[in-house]
Amino acid sequence: MFGRIVPRYDLLNRRSRRGMAPPGRRAAPAAAQPADSLALDVGAGTGGLALELRRQGAAHVVGADFSSEMLATAGAKAAAAGDAGLSWALADALALPFPDNTFDCVTNAFLLRNLADLRAGLAEMARVLKPDGRLVCLDATQPPPGLFGSLYRLYFNHLLPPLAGTISGDRAAYRYLPNSLEGFPKATDLAAILADIGLSDVRFRLLAGGTVALHTGRRPLIER
Ligand SMILES: C[S@@+](CC[C@H](N)C(=O)[O-])C[C@H]1O[C@@H](n2cnc3c(N)ncnc32)[C@H](O)[C@@H]1O
Repeated sequence: MFGRIVPRYDLLNRRSRRGMAPPGRRAAPAAAQPADSLALDVGAGTGGLALELRRQGAAHVVGADFSSEMLATAGAKAAAAGDAGLSWALADALALPFPDNTFDCVTNAFLLRNLADLRAGLAEMARVLKPDGRLVCLDATQPPPGLFGSLYRLYFNHLLPPLAGTISGDRAAYRYLPNSLEGFPKATDLAAILADIGLSDVRFRLLAGGTVALHTGRRPLIER
């Protein structure tokens, strides 16, 4: 499905957000504290977050995605930016092809709602982190109660899927959106999962009026 929407993926992100960068695009890499790091961005898509990690000082970034079409676009963007400090791995988030304790930080943006097994995907990302390394997760979350939350649900569940379908030229591709959010853990529950898989210092903050959550956690120096 993601391979089909690649040609217009960046255009869609700009149009559906009226030209604004998706929330957290700078905050997520900053939370990973990427200076001089070896970083991994999982579900890298067209490479926006991976490139931002480099801009914020990562020594090298690996962008992993299971869509070769997404990675081809990401690679072209990195080449256009003249950035040789990025490499790309065709990989499933549920079975990352990296040894334990490899990366100083691991990020993901708008990936988690797509995983068939959320907990297994998070555990896999924690596995490839070095001790004291940081995991940063950015994704949509259940909007707050009240008028704004109701309006946002209306937008996300009923307006965004046909709008995205029209811009991407693939109406079927975005029908999954409403289910992806309704079945996804609330921010507090996602924090509990991160703690449960063994991460320490788990925190989250809400962005974009409470519709996007940025979670962080660290792999402890001494495992429980
Ligand atoms: C909504 S896009 C987000 C892309 C990018 N992170 C961004 O913020 O623009 C989700 C991405 O995750 C990838 N993806 C979904 N499930 C995956 C999995 N199990 N393993 C690897 N990549 C996956 C898709 O191919 C797609 O590129």
